[in-house]
This record gives sequence, C-alpha cells and structure tokens, in this order.
Amino acid sequence: MTRTFLTALAMTAMLAGQAVADDHGDADAGKRIFAQCRACHVTDRGARSPVGPNLYGVFGRTAGTLEGFRFSEPMKKKGAEGLVWNNQTIRAYIANPRAVVPGGSMVFAGIRNEKQLNDLIAYLRKETGAQ
Ligand code: HEC
Repeated sequence: MTRTFLTALAMTAMLAGQAVADDHGDADAGKRIFAQCRACHVTDRGARSPVGPNLYGVFGRTAGTLEGFRFSEPMKKKGAEGLVWNNQTIRAYIANPRAVVPGGSMVFAGIRNEKQLNDLIAYLRKETGAQ
C-alpha cells in the first residue's frame, strides 16, 4: 500500500520534470511573439540578413559565426569562448540579451515570461530547420 503510493508519487514527480525539460511550447503562439523579432530577423534558408543575422540553422551554430554578417566584437568573442546556440542559450539570450552578450549589438529589451519563451523556442525550432 505505502509502496504503491510512493511509486505513484515518484512517477508524478518524473512526469512533472519531463514536462519542464521538454520545453512544451506552442509554435503557433510563438509565431505571434516572433513578430517582435521580425523587425530585424528572417528565418528563410539562404536569405540575406537584414538588421540581424538570418536565424535559419541557428540551433547548433556557434554564436557570431554566420558568414557575411557583421557581428559585434563581444558576440564574436562569446563564440570564440564556446557559446553555441541551443534551447537553453537562446532562451537566456532572448530573456536578457545584455546579460548574455554585454556590449552586443542586439537592441532588444528581452522577454521574461516563461510561457512566451517556451512558445517562441518551439516556433524558432520549427522555422529554422532545427533537428
Ligand atoms: C532591433 C533589432 C533586433 C531585434 C528586435 C531582435 N534582434 Fe536578434 N539580433 C540582432 C542583432 C543586430 C544581432 C547580432 C548581435 C551581435 O552581433 O552582438 C542579433 C543576434 C541574435 C541571435 C544570435 C545569432 C547568431 O548567429 O549568433 C539570436 C539567436 C537572435 N538574435 C534572436 C532574436 C530573437 C528570437 C528575437 C525576438 C525575440 C530577436 N533576436 C530580436 C538584432 C535584433
């Protein structure tokens, strides 16, 4: 009896943990949030970068390395130090660009809302060809 209860508790905890780890975002809602990024970014493969770097293929890319785009020195330095874009690093950067790349050239205040961040990551993964 106690054992069954404990097993159930453990499973509930595991499922809860999984939901957090999976970043269960809503890509459709994320599309609306990406409107804030569209002023400066495109996500089409091979398209010329406008104000900000083209984000196609950004997941798994080393920061500041997209060819043909003039990144700030601080961003290039972060890349040289090993910053690679993934769910966690992009999330942290969008939440507070200046904290992740001090002195960088992305002029964006940041999104702090957890759900909006999850939704945006889900949309970005879908739109930028992430595996
Ligand atoms: C006002 C223009 C502007 C807005 C708005 C903006 N960005 Fe940027 N973004 C930039 C610029 C410029 C850079 C290059 C920064 C540097 O070199 O320091 C950049 C860099 C990035 C990078 C790093 C890319 C790489 O190849 O290293 C990511 C990821 C990114 N932006 C995502 C976003 C997302 C997602 C949003 C919306 C929530 C957003 N940006 C909003 C201009 C913008």
